[in-house]
Amino acid sequence: MNPARSVFSSRLGFILAASGSAVGLGNVWSFPTQTANNGGAAFVAVYLLLAFLLAYPALMAELVIGRYSRANIVNALQGLSHSKASKAVNTGVAYYGVMIAALILSFYTIVAGWMLAHCLEPLFIVLGLTDFSQWIVKSSFERDLLCCSLFAILTMLIIANGVEAGIEKWSKRLMPLLVLLLIGLIIYVLFQPGAKEGLKIYLLPDTQQLLSPSLLISALGQAFFSLSLGVGTMLIYGSYISKHENLAKLGAIVTMVDVGIAFTAGLLIIPAIYVAQYNGANIFNDSGELIAGPGLIFQVLPALFNSMENHGLLVGGIFFALMSIAALTSSISMLEVPVSVAIEKTSLSRRAATLIIGGSCLLISLIISANFDALFGSVVSLTTQYSEPLLGILFCLYAGWALHRNQLLHELKQGYPAIETSFFWKIWPWYIRIVCPTLIALTFIQGL
Ligand code: PHE
Repeated sequence: MNPARSVFSSRLGFILAASGSAVGLGNVWSFPTQTANNGGAAFVAVYLLLAFLLAYPALMAELVIGRYSRANIVNALQGLSHSKASKAVNTGVAYYGVMIAALILSFYTIVAGWMLAHCLEPLFIVLGLTDFSQWIVKSSFERDLLCCSLFAILTMLIIANGVEAGIEKWSKRLMPLLVLLLIGLIIYVLFQPGAKEGLKIYLLPDTQQLLSPSLLISALGQAFFSLSLGVGTMLIYGSYISKHENLAKLGAIVTMVDVGIAFTAGLLIIPAIYVAQYNGANIFNDSGELIAGPGLIFQVLPALFNSMENHGLLVGGIFFALMSIAALTSSISMLEVPVSVAIEKTSLSRRAATLIIGGSCLLISLIISANFDALFGSVVSLTTQYSEPLLGILFCLYAGWALHRNQLLHELKQGYPAIETSFFWKIWPWYIRIVCPTLIALTFIQGL
């Protein structure tokens, strides 16, 4: 263990940073859209169940490996090797995780750049820069070049400052702001005509859909992406937690915050979609499904904000600021994965590593943006649909089989001396050895 290694200075610091990583475009956008497409409240119920039954145990696997190893993903997995051959395999797995984290960051930066663009638009309108305000929300490579670069620079500035002065300090500021903005917007939207219909769809389950396999797969994928699992993000954040903290409890809090914010975001987005429809926007595609993906937000919501007359500009600006903030506290956690490897494996300084790796990811973002139709969808599915669940299985297996039961117990006892007699300890070790990997694998195979 490296004694000079930083840790989060407080429990709250870790909770806000890890929740900041978990809460992102996945919750605020993908969760509500999937909910609307999968029977509303039925999806919410299954998602809640899977988040606690599968994603929480998998999150614990990453946190435990991280705090046990006190190292980046590569050193951590190498340390779990028992032979030369397993070391080679583990090194390969670790670098694959690093690559996937970097690729997720690359596509995420593009969407986050659009969020930033829509957040800046009202500002340019107020400043009288009408041409520029129109240019910035119209898709073009030049627009992406500007907005991706801006977003990547913000991400790099935070990561260059390290764990306490960067990640922790900014998560502490941005996360409460996000919650406040979210609640303010919900109150506003719920008073608009059309909102009630959206609320009904969101809260009243369509029981027929409850057991559909596609609902199950979407809910599991959503739970894993949303909790930032499978790419070493939670492993590295776990490695920065003090040995005095109760890991099982911290993991549970982060899961609850993530799920809570997803649920709250649904309270905003679903009614907002129906308010937009009430105002004449087209929210369904030809096959009668809600327009999915980034499309909906950038087509429908600006229409909603425009219909708000004077304060629409302000509300729209605030909404997209909220999306940008949620994306930023996630993107910093993605960049920390390769940066932590670089500074612990080489003699590079944190700043130099951040600049080189952040700059390379930005370059990949721009390559994807320039070849958007050919690359964007493939990168998203390679990383989120295929690699994250696969790596999630491996992390469960590492925690369950590569770490001895006594090592797990010793690690978890720090910060929670009574864990041996707890319900958690009776279930979890078996759960991550067998149940979790099997269920993720089954879902994965079905998804293929
Ligand atoms: N959890 C983030 C979100 O919901 C995405 C993410 C995935 C972050 C993987 C880090 C690692 O948007």
